Amino acid sequence: MRIFSGIQPTGGMHIGNYLGAITQWLELQEKHECFFCVVDLHALTLPQDPDELRKATHQKVVELLALGINPEKCTLFIQSQVPEHSELAWILNTLTPLGELERMTQFKDKARKQVASSVFAGLLNYPVLMASDVLLYKTQGVPVGQDQSQHLELTRTLAKKFNQRFGETFVEPKTILKKEGAKIMSLADPKRKMSKSDKADSYLGIFEEPESLKKKVMGAVTDTGKEIRFDPTKKPGVSNLLTIYSLFSVEPIQKVEKKFQKKDYAFLKKSLAALLIEKLEPLRRKKKELDTRDLYVKEILRRGQQHASSLARATMEEVREKVGLLEP
Ligand code: TYM
Repeated sequence: MRIFSGIQPTGGMHIGNYLGAITQWLELQEKHECFFCVVDLHALTLPQDPDELRKATHQKVVELLALGINPEKCTLFIQSQVPEHSELAWILNTLTPLGELERMTQFKDKARKQVASSVFAGLLNYPVLMASDVLLYKTQGVPVGQDQSQHLELTRTLAKKFNQRFGETFVEPKTILKKEGAKIMSLADPKRKMSKSDKADSYLGIFEEPESLKKKVMGAVTDTGKEIRFDPTKKPGVSNLLTIYSLFSVEPIQKVEKKFQKKDYAFLKKSLAALLIEKLEPLRRKKKELDTRDLYVKEILRRGQQHASSLARATMEEVREKVGLLEP
C-alpha cells in the first residue's frame, strides 16, 4: 500500500499526535511505501512569525526522527519544498463546492477562535490543500487521528469528482484510524480532544520535562464519584487516563481497568505519571542528540524532497494534460 500522512510544524508534539497518528506511522513504515510530510503551508492558514515557523518546521522533523520515523524506510519531507502540492490544490479548488468547506467542523472551530477580520480564505481552503497532499501521490491509506476523518471524506469526494470529469486519475484513499487512541482527550476538559492550541495544562508534550508531566497528570480533571472504571460517556476523565495508560503500557484496557479497580484517582494519576516519565525519557534523550545534527537533518530532507518531487511531477503532468493546460 502507498501511505501518506502529515503533521503541522507549529506547537510541540503532544501525546494525542503520538498515540493517534505517529504510532501508526511507525508500524506502517515497516511494511508499506510511506510518505510523511511536515505541512508548513497548512500552518500559514493562521498567523505565524516567519523565523518561528522556519524553526518549528525543522524542529518537527527532528521530533519525528526522535520518535523513530526512519528515513531509510520512508520518505520524509517538507510540504512547501514540493510546489506541486499548491498547484494541485488550485485545480482541486475549482472543483470544490463552497458549501462543503463551510460545513467542515475544524474550519468552524478554528474560525470561532479568531476575530472575524483574521479568518482568511486559506483557512477555509485548508482541506483542499490536504486533499492535494494525499491525492498527489495516489495514496491508498492515510493514518490519522479521528479529527481528520471529515477532511479525508472530502478528499475522496474530490478524487471521485475529478475522475468522473476528466477520466480515471486519482485513487480514493482509505482513512486508517486506531481502535484506541484515535481521539485522546484534553486533561483540562475531557469532553474535548487534546489540542496544542489549547492551554498548556490540557496537553502532555512528548518531550516535556518529567516534573511538568507529573504536575499536569496530577492536575488532570477527573469525574464525580471515586470508582475507577472505563466508561467514556459517564467517566470521560478517568477513561482518558486509562486509555493513555493502556497505550503506553501496551496492556489491554480491561487489564488496566482491573489493575486500578480498587485504587483511588491519586494512585492512578501517580502511576500514569511514572509510566509516562519512564517511556518518554529515551525519546527526550534521542531528540537532544538530534538537536545538534542540523546537517544530517537537512540531508534527509533533501533526499525526501527529491523522491517526493519525482512522483508529484509525474502526477501533475497527467493532471495538466487532462484539465487542458497547454504544455510549455
Ligand atoms: P495535526 O498537525 O493537527 O495533527 C497530526 C496528527 O495527530 C492527530 N491528532 C490526534 N490524534 C488523537 N488524539 C488527539 N487529541 C489528536 N490531535 C491530533 C491528527 O489527527 C493528525 O493525524 N490536517 C492535518 C495535517 C495534514 C494531513 C495531510 C494529514 C495535512 N495534510 C494529509 C494527513 C494527510 C493536521 O492538522 O494534523
